[in-house]
Amino acid sequence: MITVLAPLVRGLCLNAANAPRFVLAAVDKTAVPKNALTIDLESAYRKDDTGTMSFNETAAAKALSEAYAAWEFEISPSAADQGRPVKKHPSAILLKRGGETLGLFWIDRDIDAARKRRETADDSFIEETLPPADTVKKLGSAGRSDVVKNRVAVVTGGAQGFGEQISLGLASSGALVFIADLNLNGAEALAKKINAAQGRTAAIAVKADVTSEESAEALFAAIAREAGGLDLCVSNAGVLQAGSVLEQELKSFKFTTDVNYTGYFIVTKFASRLLRLQYLTSPVWKTDIIQINSKSGLEGSNKNGAYAGSKFGSVGLTASFALELIDYNIKVNSICPGNFFDGPLWSDPEKGLFVQYLQAGKVAGARTIADVKAYYEGRVPMKRGCEGPDVMRAIYYIVEQEYETGQAVPVTGGQVMLH
Ligand SMILES: NC(=O)c1ccc[n+]([C@@H]2O[C@H](COP(=O)([O-])OP(=O)(O)OC[C@H]3O[C@@H](n4cnc5c(N)ncnc54)[C@H](O)[C@@H]3O)[C@@H](O)[C@H]2O)c1
Repeated sequence: MITVLAPLVRGLCLNAANAPRFVLAAVDKTAVPKNALTIDLESAYRKDDTGTMSFNETAAAKALSEAYAAWEFEISPSAADQGRPVKKHPSAILLKRGGETLGLFWIDRDIDAARKRRETADDSFIEETLPPADTVKKLGSAGRSDVVKNRVAVVTGGAQGFGEQISLGLASSGALVFIADLNLNGAEALAKKINAAQGRTAAIAVKADVTSEESAEALFAAIAREAGGLDLCVSNAGVLQAGSVLEQELKSFKFTTDVNYTGYFIVTKFASRLLRLQYLTSPVWKTDIIQINSKSGLEGSNKNGAYAGSKFGSVGLTASFALELIDYNIKVNSICPGNFFDGPLWSDPEKGLFVQYLQAGKVAGARTIADVKAYYEGRVPMKRGCEGPDVMRAIYYIVEQEYETGQAVPVTGGQVMLH
């Protein structure tokens, strides 16, 4: 129940503040803070067709929104503000059903502040000084990385490669990143490194397998419990097993398809269920699902059909999911990076593609790994591979851009140009 109530409450807070919020369920629900906004959700329980009482999310969202609006009206402006343009928000929200407590939630702008409130039962209001009424939206985009500040993000396959770069990039731009990976040790080591460097809770490791519905469901439930909701889901986990269509084993083809294509469907399914709950109470708040695709999702890849097919197919999923999910203000886009030559897929000294291509004699005349690398770099008009910051710029663009969805954005140094 907490994993349903927390995103509804988070949506409520996002809607009122139009700024990121962290919503944490209290462990002890008995001590009710004096300033808590108390909302009765009796009206959210309805009899279904079989006569059984069940919780109706839409009815709950309505009850929550009406109660919050009434509270805002009551609380502000107050005499204590002496005419200052201050907007107040509750830092504790108690949900009840008649005499029963459903949940008590602590709220703040960042996760550490919310955790502190929960520990110390600090229920002082969250105050915001309102900008003057004539402030116009700036046309500049200075500080673009600020678009993810204090947002909640998840990166699947976040422990290494592009996923690691994206986790590092989001955390250094002020987001809280859930690093979701099959490789829990790798995710934990990276989260530890990020938190030490940032001096705050900037990353949380979670074990997840994107090919399993149970695992994906548990991942998004964990995010709802730990942060209250989500703003940005980066569906990055991907694998590559190359092979000729004449010879590739079906097992290998299916493995690639399961992670890259079906895994993207599974992640989107459970991410958007969580984002939709938030939307019910925050119709103004836009959220993002970004799939890390590939340039091989835009052009064929010789003897690599399973991979390219999974990526082409995912462009179709992106366009289709985008059409449906925009009804909940969820934008869905893919980023199609060029080759990340410095990442483990290419540069791993034992199983990296450079070693494999050298050993297989794939690049005529190449004698060393450096020769193979130089050959592939030479094929890029910009003469270098794609790197983490290149992908981060595309992520910031997509999150900041409020008027686009369903696109596949190339980041290929000019190697693939759209028609
Ligand atoms: N490396 C490149 O040159 C390149 C180029 C374009 C696009 N991409 C795409 O970028 C994404 C990341 O690729 P990379 O090369 O950085 O990969 P990588 O192999 O370096 O890392 C992949 C990560 O995903 C995790 N993972 C694998 N299967 C998983 C599963 N079922 N559930 C959860 N996690 C899982 C792994 O443990 C690993 O941490 C992929 O979608 C890939 O197709 C990569």
